[in-house]
Amino acid sequence: MSDSLPARDVFLVDVLEGLRAPQKTLPCKYLYDARGSELFEDICELDEYYPTRTELAIMESHAPEMARWIGGDVFLIEYGSGTSRKTRLLLDALEHPAVYVPIDISAETLARSADVLRKHYRDLEVLPLCADFSGPLALPQAHRKTARRIVYFPGSSIGNFPPADASAFLARMVEQVGPSGAVLIGADLKKAPALLERAYDDAVGVTAAFNRNLLRRINRELGGNFPERNFRHEARWNADEGRVEMHLVCVEACRVEISGAAFGFEVGESIHTENSYKYEIEGFESMAAEVGLEARDRWSDPAGLFSVHYFEVSATGTGSRRA
Ligand code: TRP
Repeated sequence: MSDSLPARDVFLVDVLEGLRAPQKTLPCKYLYDARGSELFEDICELDEYYPTRTELAIMESHAPEMARWIGGDVFLIEYGSGTSRKTRLLLDALEHPAVYVPIDISAETLARSADVLRKHYRDLEVLPLCADFSGPLALPQAHRKTARRIVYFPGSSIGNFPPADASAFLARMVEQVGPSGAVLIGADLKKAPALLERAYDDAVGVTAAFNRNLLRRINRELGGNFPERNFRHEARWNADEGRVEMHLVCVEACRVEISGAAFGFEVGESIHTENSYKYEIEGFESMAAEVGLEARDRWSDPAGLFSVHYFEVSATGTGSRRA
């Protein structure tokens, strides 16, 4: 939506537009307010949610190899940095990393983790950027001289984009890092549907609370009156699309008002809040190749749940075949 509008108005316009669609939807980036970011941290600790610990273990075992590919004195950019926990494993392995730009939509989370990083890495120029990484980004000016730019995009966040957008997003990374740049990125792999659905619908209900927090946020920030209890969290594996879908399913019919606009909800009707696409290693690498990213190396856990990919911008065209 329009960049000139204040944040609250953009939020309102996005919410109204989403709820007017035949399949009601809400943009997933709004899940991450201060409370949502905390709940997401809790999700990452759940037994059912395998991606975080699996990727951390991959980083623990292979960060030195990644660091060898990446080299010294780099300008490191991270999309959706959160608490930068995985990044610390990377920073510890890198040869004097020069600049780190963590980008996150939650100002509180970003400020807190930037403080921690500055204390811990005295020689690192930490330049936090509070922004929605899926939109246009103006990177802060660094003082240090750097050898090359690297985008780090851990987690399974690339999976939250539909494939066409994921590909366009990879092309933007290519532009951002330039001809000598590289991208280190996590991808969650396809696996048994039961495992996937459990990862997105845990027994304790943390994921449900995370999803429902979006309704609470709309109530608080946009003067809505969603009866939270009327909506149940649901995670569905959609085999045709290769994605886990997150829904808030209405269990008791209601009428909701948000800043003067009214919406009716029938029992069984859902609000689609998030998708998490799952990849196969070859498919992921060929999607990257199409936008000018050459696969140099990849690391996986023994069970093949998750992979981390290292790409370099290919000499023959920085995203030239971009759609
Ligand atoms: N990037 C995370 C993922 O796709 C986001 C996520 C985890 C999520 N659990 C969720 C989003 C539940 C919505 C609801 O794995």
